[in-house]
Amino acid sequence: MEPVTDGVEDLEINGKSVEDIVTPWTVNSKNDAGVDYDKLILRFGSSKIDQELLDRFEKITGKSCHRFLRRGIFFSHRDMHTVLNLYEQGKPFYLYTGRGPSSDAMHLGHLIPFVFCKWLQDVFDVPLVIQLTDDEKAIWKNLKLEEAIRLAYENSKDIIACGFDVKKTFIFSNLEHIGNNVAFYQNMIRIQKSVTFNQIKGIFGFGDSDPVGKIAFPPTQAAPAISSTFPFIFKDAIVPCLIPCAIDQDPYFRMTRDIAPKLGVPKPALLHSIFFPALQGSQTKMSASDFNSAIFLTDTAKQIKNKINKHAFSGGQATVEEHRRLGGNCDIDISYQWLRFFLDDDDKLAEIEKNYTSGALLTGELKKELIEVIQKIVAEHQERKKAITDEIVKEYMKPRDLGFKLTNNSIK
Ligand code: TRP
Repeated sequence: MEPVTDGVEDLEINGKSVEDIVTPWTVNSKNDAGVDYDKLILRFGSSKIDQELLDRFEKITGKSCHRFLRRGIFFSHRDMHTVLNLYEQGKPFYLYTGRGPSSDAMHLGHLIPFVFCKWLQDVFDVPLVIQLTDDEKAIWKNLKLEEAIRLAYENSKDIIACGFDVKKTFIFSNLEHIGNNVAFYQNMIRIQKSVTFNQIKGIFGFGDSDPVGKIAFPPTQAAPAISSTFPFIFKDAIVPCLIPCAIDQDPYFRMTRDIAPKLGVPKPALLHSIFFPALQGSQTKMSASDFNSAIFLTDTAKQIKNKINKHAFSGGQATVEEHRRLGGNCDIDISYQWLRFFLDDDDKLAEIEKNYTSGALLTGELKKELIEVIQKIVAEHQERKKAITDEIVKEYMKPRDLGFKLTNNSIK
């Protein structure tokens, strides 16, 4: 196994724990500016997305980088240069991402990987598979299977509303799909054979009283990173995989990368994002179970305005006079941090940063900018979602040929 620092271990200095906690289930930092992502790169053993990679990305694709790349929102990677090499040589790869459908309403943070995947799919013109881990949520949240499946279908509408090309995108519910796909099950078993309980415990920290379903789950999330899991898409070809995800999902894919050589398949490449901060501050990510920590994709314009005005943690000063004199702190100001995710205009963002830092822009004014941006995004999303019928969902969820043909040793 690659060194498995799972992020759970807290370092203690003078009796105070100093490490950020980053696991697939918990994200917590003691720092107002949030998790120290440079340290996380060292702990997880991934690589920083640096200017050289961004320049190469633009050179090879001929497209300017998405704001998530320009602004370090996707900040870490594994083997992205290998993916760019493939693309340069005209060789295929595919995208894989997923979502654990734990609630009806998805929030803004949930959009990040999907907005990014949509952009990657357009830039590279490659197939995308999206795993809905309703099985995972049924086990962890103790949901009825029927309820977990219902949530998977409900969430798929929000995902489809991000604009994925139905000709190139396969979305599946684990609970519905795996039983109908022997190749999937066989790859799960190949992975289960290759990982010990000790390794799973080391990576994920499960204990003796956890349901065995938790222990058996990681191979289920790993299998879609192997192209032979989807014979109806890739036929017999071995096609490398690129996984965009939030950094907390990395443990699953460290495990996958570790066993890939044993199975004779390429290690999946990864692009990792930072977390979308909660309204209350960057110490933790947005949570669907805390109504006031998040803006939901179902919120009205008025709810958005009220939540931001009332709850968005401010890096401004206590009084207008002080603010004018000392200026605001963009590093901890949630309104500014959210604008980094969603305001595409670099010049406007730079101006806001300058004016807030100098004190020329007040917190109320900054919040007003954010409210407008978010209201527009959510309203447009709701409009697109309205058009997505059950029939359309079924299309995306049908196992099918995504138009890939074998040529020589590659597909396409
Ligand atoms: N476990 C993830 C979650 O709870 C869902 C998921 C499945 C996923 N496969 C993935 C996320 C691949 C990113 C990439 O959200």
